[in-house]
Amino acid sequence: MNMTSHRLITQARRVELDSIIVKGGPVLSGTVSTSGAKNAALPVLFSALLADGTHRFTRVPVLRDIDSTHQLLEALGCRLERNGTDVTIEVAPPGEPVAHYDLVRKMRASILCLGPLLTRYGEARVSLPGGCAIGSRPIDLHVETMRKLGAEVEIDQGYVIARAKRLVGERILFEKLTVGGTENALMAAVLARGTTVIENAAKEPEVVDLVHYLRAMGAQIEGEGTSVITIDGVDELHPASHAIVADRIEAGTLLIAGAITGGEVTVDRCVPQHLEALTDKMQDCGFHIETGSDSITVGATDSWTGTDISTSPYPGFPTDLQAQFMALMTQAQGTSVVTEGIFENRFMHVQELVRLGADITPMRQVAVVRGDRGGLSGADVMATDLRASASLVLAGLVAKGETRVNRIYHLDRGYEKLEKKLASLGADIQRVR
Ligand code: UD1
Repeated sequence: MNMTSHRLITQARRVELDSIIVKGGPVLSGTVSTSGAKNAALPVLFSALLADGTHRFTRVPVLRDIDSTHQLLEALGCRLERNGTDVTIEVAPPGEPVAHYDLVRKMRASILCLGPLLTRYGEARVSLPGGCAIGSRPIDLHVETMRKLGAEVEIDQGYVIARAKRLVGERILFEKLTVGGTENALMAAVLARGTTVIENAAKEPEVVDLVHYLRAMGAQIEGEGTSVITIDGVDELHPASHAIVADRIEAGTLLIAGAITGGEVTVDRCVPQHLEALTDKMQDCGFHIETGSDSITVGATDSWTGTDISTSPYPGFPTDLQAQFMALMTQAQGTSVVTEGIFENRFMHVQELVRLGADITPMRQVAVVRGDRGGLSGADVMATDLRASASLVLAGLVAKGETRVNRIYHLDRGYEKLEKKLASLGADIQRVR
C-alpha cells in the first residue's frame, strides 16, 4: 500500500467516529453551489481504465466514495493527482486486472471496473461488492451483460471472474432497469468487436455524462438519454478531458434543506431540468419554485401541504431523494404516502425519524407520513445509509433542541462538505469527534 492510500485509510477510520450536531430553528437563506455528481464521477473515473495515458477531470467532488475509487485505481496501476476538484489520472496497464475485497467492500460501485477491465485486458477479477445496506443489491445483471458480450464468467470465492479474448457486440435487453448495469455494458461495449444495442437502458443524467466522456475518448455511441443506446465498438480509445455534471441529488437535498426551514434558498451550478421530478412535487405542495438557466430558488413559506411520491427511474422521482423528501413531509399539513419503487429495503430512516417524533407508518415499500409542522424534537440518531443520513440532518434543522447524527461515515461517502454548505445558509450545525 502506498503512502496516499495509507493516509486516506487512516483519515477514513477517524472520520467514521464523527457526528454532526444540528440545533433546530434557524431559517436558512442565501445561495449555495452544487458540487459535481458522485454517481457520474464514479463511472467516469473507472472509464479511464479504457485508455492508457493522461486523463484530466474537473469538478470531481471531494468525498469518500471518490477516495475509494482512487485507491482502487491506484491498486490497478494508475497514478492519480488531485488538486481540489481537479483530478489527473495516468493510466498504465495493471500488474493484474484484479479489484480486491478490501477495496471493493467499501463501495458497491466498484463493480463498475468489471466492464472496462474485461474489455481492455480480456480478464477481470472483481470482488463481490458491499456498500449501502439498502436491500439486497445483486449484480446478476452486470454478470449477465458480460456473458451476453461473449465472456465466460464464474463466481469463485467471493470474486466475479470474467474472461474473453475480445468481447463481441450483442443486443442487451435489461429485464430490469439498472443504472450501474447500463454503465458497465457501455464501458464493455465501446471496445467490443461490432455493434451493441442496449435496450431498456437507464436514462439517468449520470449515464449521459459517462457517454459524453466515452465519446470524448473516441467511442462511437448514439441514443444516450433514451431507452435504446447503440454502441459501435472501436479498436482503441484515447485519454481526454471532462468536467463532471452537477449532482442533482445534492442540489435536491440543499433545496429541501431551505424548504424545510421555511426559508428562501437558491441552489446554483445545477441543471434544473434534472430536478424536475422534485421541483414539480414541491410545487404541488405549495412551494414557490423559480428556475434560472443553472439555478433553482425555493421561496420562503410557513406552510405546505403533503403529497404522495413514488420513486422510479429517471425522469421519475429519484430514490436517492426519497428519504430527504420524507423529512420534508413530516412538516407538511396533512398526510403523504411515500412509495419506494426501486429498492426493497430503503426505509431505514423511518425508525430514526420516528425517534425524532415523526408520525410515520411503514408498510413494506410504502410509508404513510402524517405531517406536523414543529412536531419534531432533537435526539441522538444514527443512519445506515447515505441518503438516510441526509434526511436526519434535514429533520434536525427543524427539530426542537439538539439532534446528534451519529455514524456520518455514510454521509461523507456522498456529500461534499454538507455541514459547511448548510452552515453557509445559516444552519447551526457542526461536526464533532
Ligand atoms: C445507482 C446509484 C444509486 C441509486 C440507484 C437507483 C450509483 C453509483 N449509484 O445504483 O445511488 O440509488 O442507481 O437510481 O450510480 N439490480 C438487480 N441486479 C443487478 C443490478 C441491479 O436486480 O445486477 C436491481 C437493484 O437491486 C435495484 C434496481 O435493480 O432494485 C436498480 O438498481 P441500479 O439502477 O443498478 O442501482 P445502482 O446502479 O447500483
